[in-house]
Amino acid sequence: MKNQDENRFVTSYSKYSEDAIRNWVKCRRDKRISRFFAVLLRQYCCPIFQKNGLYYVLDAGCGLGHDAQEFSKAGFNVVGVDAVKEFILYGRKMDSRFRGNNGKKAAPQGRVKFICGDYACSDLITPLIRRRLFDLIWANASLIHYPKKRLTPVLNRMASFVRPAGLFAGTFFHGKGEGVYHGSFVPGRFFARYLKDELQSHVENAGWRIRWIHTVANEERRGRWIQVIAEKR
Ligand SMILES: C[S@@+](CC[C@H](N)C(=O)[O-])C[C@H]1O[C@@H](n2cnc3c(N)ncnc32)[C@H](O)[C@@H]1O
Repeated sequence: MKNQDENRFVTSYSKYSEDAIRNWVKCRRDKRISRFFAVLLRQYCCPIFQKNGLYYVLDAGCGLGHDAQEFSKAGFNVVGVDAVKEFILYGRKMDSRFRGNNGKKAAPQGRVKFICGDYACSDLITPLIRRRLFDLIWANASLIHYPKKRLTPVLNRMASFVRPAGLFAGTFFHGKGEGVYHGSFVPGRFFARYLKDELQSHVENAGWRIRWIHTVANEERRGRWIQVIAEKR
């Protein structure tokens, strides 16, 4: 991460990590996976997993690791990366509870590895992909913390983490502009908002072919969001 804006979210999330954890746990409780997540799993990931018997996901900005757990339940191998230590510690704790069950596996789970750091940092990712490139990079509401001018380069770097025809899927704030937001339970975070055409240009200029792009309202999160699935060109 290069400048003050890009580091800002780490400071804010760490400072308010207890509030963030409480809030996110409450939001996820009793909720099924989102419609978008279900489509991604069913239509895009599972057919490849069934064919190859292996599927590797990078959950970029995994937060508490809820989505990482869902991928794991599907049998995929998952690396969850987040820059906030408190979230990674929570994710690891939940994962060991989930796997507990007196040593017996409750479901055909894949592995989850939680790592604290910047998912766009080559020093962190290169050792992971030395043995195998990822099939999917999942960035659920995490690239929203990058300034717009950095989005294309970051998406382009992500393309180098996935296999040929591998996937990127993510969700982005819909709207115009960017800046620091002082409301909400984690004040002081930097957010970028995109219009659909604008986001589509960033994704395509970074070396991806769009397979799915939709604007939705109040689906997984409140407000308007853009959901994207793209394939590496
Ligand atoms: C709004 S939260 C979403 C968390 C999770 N993906 C979810 O959907 O519940 C955004 C997360 O992205 C993480 N994040 C954003 N940019 C990051 C980066 N460059 N490297 C690592 N983590 C990042 C933040 O620390 C935060 O946990």
